[in-house]
Amino acid sequence: MKIVNVVGARPNFMKIAPIMDAYKAFNDIETLLVHTGQHYDEKMSRLFFNELGIPEPDIYLEVGSASHAVQTAEIMKAFEPVVLDHKPDAVLVVGDVNSTIACGLVAVKLDVKLAHVEAGLRSFDRSMPEEINRVLTDSISELLFCTEQSGVDNLIHEGIPEDKIFLVGNVMIDTLQKNLEKAQRSDILDHLRLNNTDFAVLTLHRPSNVDDPSTFNRIVDALKIIQKNIPIVFPIHPRTHKNLSNNGLVERINELPNLQVIEPLGYLDFLKLMSSARIVLTDSGGIQEETTILKVPCLTLRENTERPITLEIGSNQIVGTDPDKIIEGFEQAMAGPSRNLEIPPLWDGRAAERIVRILKDKL
Ligand code: UD1
Repeated sequence: MKIVNVVGARPNFMKIAPIMDAYKAFNDIETLLVHTGQHYDEKMSRLFFNELGIPEPDIYLEVGSASHAVQTAEIMKAFEPVVLDHKPDAVLVVGDVNSTIACGLVAVKLDVKLAHVEAGLRSFDRSMPEEINRVLTDSISELLFCTEQSGVDNLIHEGIPEDKIFLVGNVMIDTLQKNLEKAQRSDILDHLRLNNTDFAVLTLHRPSNVDDPSTFNRIVDALKIIQKNIPIVFPIHPRTHKNLSNNGLVERINELPNLQVIEPLGYLDFLKLMSSARIVLTDSGGIQEETTILKVPCLTLRENTERPITLEIGSNQIVGTDPDKIIEGFEQAMAGPSRNLEIPPLWDGRAAERIVRILKDKL
């Protein structure tokens, strides 16, 4: 059995790592790893391969950044010959980035079965590029692996036959559990002079937050107040960095003495930082899940989440981008959890194992 596995952007790497590992238990599964090159900076890509022990990609498509249409089309053009040459039994894609839908579409057009890891998540906000990628990828997948029950329910509601849907847990949490101890040895807190200090971590990269200067400015209004209470560390995504400069926001950020903007971090340093933080502010999807496991309060700077389980039983709170709401959420979270925080079902470090066993049975 041959399976072609696809990664492209930073959040894909921690998802594929445990799956590549789990394949090793089966010597009759041949695997190929394809990196589309959607993310290519050392700090957005290579570092993660090294730290997470992901095998060197067998094929690197070197697609790089472009508009959505151009990027998606270039990935499709580059990926089609790979599928034609290698004739896999299945293509496995993870997450919701442009590489996910681009390679998924190539696979099904060549009559190759598609497996989607992290299927069924829905923000119900079609203005998010990821939501379009999620809905489309799920609609053409043969095997759909879900992280939480809401994903299963959404897929059934969309008419996907139940026998294609598997609730397996969360591969991102497999990676977190495997690396947490190692991450504790990171010296990032010393490096940022944060030892023995309460601090907040901030990440922002969603187009709806960072491409629109008025929204970005409103978030900075809230940060201006919050950084008076607690130092904030802000590892900055390249997209956000570019927009700060383009929108004349650099001066406003520089005026905040307690907000420390730093380069994107590798997995282990970021995990150490996040697990030691008093609070996390983010618009990322994965970080909402990771803080749930770490039991660190998380304020999600968006109007919705496709990961509702993090709200139901985790430490996540949706606060949107209105400065008053962000500050109110901050004050509430700093006052302590209002309930016992639980771990979502099957987020136990064994999701990848389950996925590979199902692939073996079903293909
Ligand atoms: C992509 C995903 C998003 C995911 C995010 C994680 C899509 C539609 N979006 O968004 O779901 O949460 O990755 O990071 O697939 N850039 C660099 N170096 C890089 C990569 C990007 O400088 O290695 C810059 C480029 O200017 C590029 C911009 O970042 O134009 C955006 O990159 P892109 O891959 O288009 O989308 P992300 O915002 O990273």
